[in-house]
Amino acid sequence: MGDSSPGHFVVAVDGPSGSGKSSASRGAARALGLRYLDTGAMYRALTWWLMDAPADTADEALVASLAAKPVIEVGTDPDDPWTRVNGTDVSRDIRTREVSAQVSAVARIPAVRRHLIEQQRAIIAAAVGGIVAEGRDIGTVVAPDAPLKVFLTAASGARAQRRAAEQGAAVDVTEADQARRDRLDAAQSAKAADAVLIDATDLTLAEVIDEIVGLAGERRPLASAGDKSS
Ligand code: DC
Repeated sequence: MGDSSPGHFVVAVDGPSGSGKSSASRGAARALGLRYLDTGAMYRALTWWLMDAPADTADEALVASLAAKPVIEVGTDPDDPWTRVNGTDVSRDIRTREVSAQVSAVARIPAVRRHLIEQQRAIIAAAVGGIVAEGRDIGTVVAPDAPLKVFLTAASGARAQRRAAEQGAAVDVTEADQARRDRLDAAQSAKAADAVLIDATDLTLAEVIDEIVGLAGERRPLASAGDKSS
């Protein structure tokens, strides 16, 4: 799969929404000089395109038949992780409440997952030096050979507070939305047996990043053993 080859260091970061996964993954990628992949943005991009068409996102057969139609591209610079659909920048459009409300239903369709996982593996394999890839199934399905896997979680209240602050929304409404999405995402989300669990409830973002960078420091020399270029 290429994710355990010398000099190509892959960090898999999984966990529920609001755990601070994206900020922590971007920060860790920056600190480690790695690329960054937000796989959730790809599920969001497909959902945005379906809604824009418009196509009924609840029609599983229809969504499955359309899954490969849009050209979805993501930038892997941790300082500027853009998302494009058919050449149009949708980086902001994919973060709306409307897309968030429908993306779980799209992401659980097997044909959608097969298609996007194939693209995710290609992006990971092509990342020069390596990549921090974040999502729900990176350590278990997308990059099971990753030398470092992190499962980032936080208490429900702390996650809702983080999301509500980001979106300028009420905490109770956000927590209810979050509980609904957690249920829908559960089948696609799993902690790999060999993932390191980080509970971010009482940690600052800087502390979470430090922990991931520290773990990477332990694993990277082993992953790169035999690499003459490093
Ligand atoms: O992390 P996020 O909220 O941007 O993810 C958007 C949706 O995509 C969410 O419903 C979970 C789903 N997802 C997934 O099923 N597998 C991934 N690897 C990443 C996200």
